[in-house]
Amino acid sequence: MANALVDRVEQATQRIGRDLWQGLAQRRPSMFEKRWLLDQLMEWAMADESVKVQMFRFVDVLPMLSTHEAVTQHLQEYFEEVRTHLPWAARLAVESPQANTIFGKALAYSARKSSRMMAERFIAGTKVEEVLKSVARLRRQGLAFTLDLLGEAVVSEPEADAYQQAYLDLITGLAPHVNGWPEDPQIDRDEHGWIPRCNVSLKLSALYSQFKPIDPEGSAEGVKARLRPILRAAREHDAFVNVDMEHYAYKDLTLEIFKQVFLEDEFRDWSDCGIVIQAYLPEAEDDLKDLLAWTEDRGTPIWVRLVKGAYWDYETVVSEYRGWPCPVYTEKWRSDDNFERQTQFLMQHHNTLRPAIASHNLRSLAHAMAWAEELDIPQSGWEIQMLYGMAEEQAQLFAERGHRVRVYTPFGELIPGMAYLVRRLLENTSNDSFLRHAYDTSVSIEELLRRPADAALSKAS
Ligand code: FAD
Ligand code: 2OP
Repeated sequence: MANALVDRVEQATQRIGRDLWQGLAQRRPSMFEKRWLLDQLMEWAMADESVKVQMFRFVDVLPMLSTHEAVTQHLQEYFEEVRTHLPWAARLAVESPQANTIFGKALAYSARKSSRMMAERFIAGTKVEEVLKSVARLRRQGLAFTLDLLGEAVVSEPEADAYQQAYLDLITGLAPHVNGWPEDPQIDRDEHGWIPRCNVSLKLSALYSQFKPIDPEGSAEGVKARLRPILRAAREHDAFVNVDMEHYAYKDLTLEIFKQVFLEDEFRDWSDCGIVIQAYLPEAEDDLKDLLAWTEDRGTPIWVRLVKGAYWDYETVVSEYRGWPCPVYTEKWRSDDNFERQTQFLMQHHNTLRPAIASHNLRSLAHAMAWAEELDIPQSGWEIQMLYGMAEEQAQLFAERGHRVRVYTPFGELIPGMAYLVRRLLENTSNDSFLRHAYDTSVSIEELLRRPADAALSKAS
């Protein structure tokens, strides 16, 4: 790529990034907001690695504990191992009470309450009515949504049936309702015209209990049998379906099933569908090139949600444990850098692979905006996506500046949602998280907006 072009896009990234940063300066959550207190609680709980591990073990088991005695016992058992790492107040709380005393009950109550608060931060509700309220609130704020019913990797066929039925009910129940809302052109239209308001995201591993990369044909048949009725319902009710990307072992199979089903006569000319590409995988570049060739052959565009990847901890731990090569980058700047290269690729092919840039990282998003500006892509020709409960101030600011911002809104029961919640907690407490650095007043705007490759150099020096 010509140096002049690189420099121009970089200058635009800096200009846009600084401008956005100024716009955000007024919006940090105040000390009196519930969210600020929650951030402090998470910060405290996750500051020490050994406490963090016990916290995750406890959060994981909590939804299954039905009595306060069981909660207190588990709390004491797990945190006993890291007792000396706890602040004195927490140590006292964990050490003293007998499970069946009033103090034991109070401890169990407060553990449940804190976990519920953490879950409510990232999960929009358990019931459809709660979700309706959440999406109506998002819309009042000028934000679009994609709904995700919590659940993945089901272990039985009745579970897969229930997941499929829940999506069918969601689409047939929600689409007529939201389609009756008064139009908001910023989120209801792109540069070609009307786009679906009812947008759902789903995970293929929840549609078949035998989803196994070792049996690609059998897995594809099992998944497609349950996926087709969902796609039919979506098409009939003007809804959009996005296929999420899960851990690396499922990636090729997920892409393959997506390509097979959307090439069938029934769905080939349907553009209200999308898939996810993860930039923490060096393979993202080849996968995107392959998707481009496939989409050109299909003759109807698709949406591509570009993310960095939510399974980083899982991939690194599992590959090390099994002695396998690690499929993801292990230096953060490389994921950021690849995200920028794939953003550029998507923007350059935006009529075929429609870009949905999903990030809470101001540098990554400013860079996407700089490319859209460079290529004269209108704001309605691509979209920004964010997760429910994360970077709300940024989402609001981008919407006010005319962007279509879609919020990924998960809902459902906590037990199937635990894996999702743990991913969000890991992400939000990681030392490499952009959002964590953005709230750290000792990190300057120059550092936050630094080009990924330059960030690597400054770390090395
Ligand atoms: P940043 O803080 O800039 O980046 C954090 C990310 O960098 C981590 O999540 C990880 O991917 C990567 N990373 C962290 N440490 C390292 C390291 N040491 N070396 C290399 N890389 C590192 N993820 C999926 O996997 N599948 C999905 O289907 C999916 N859907 C999403 C939908 C939406 C709307 C959004 C906003 C995100 C989605 N994600 C999905 C999550 C996404 O992958 C990221 O985990 C999350 O957005 C954080 O990235 P960031 O750019 O916001 O933050
Ligand atoms: C996840 O489930 C958002 O799909 C992403 O973590």
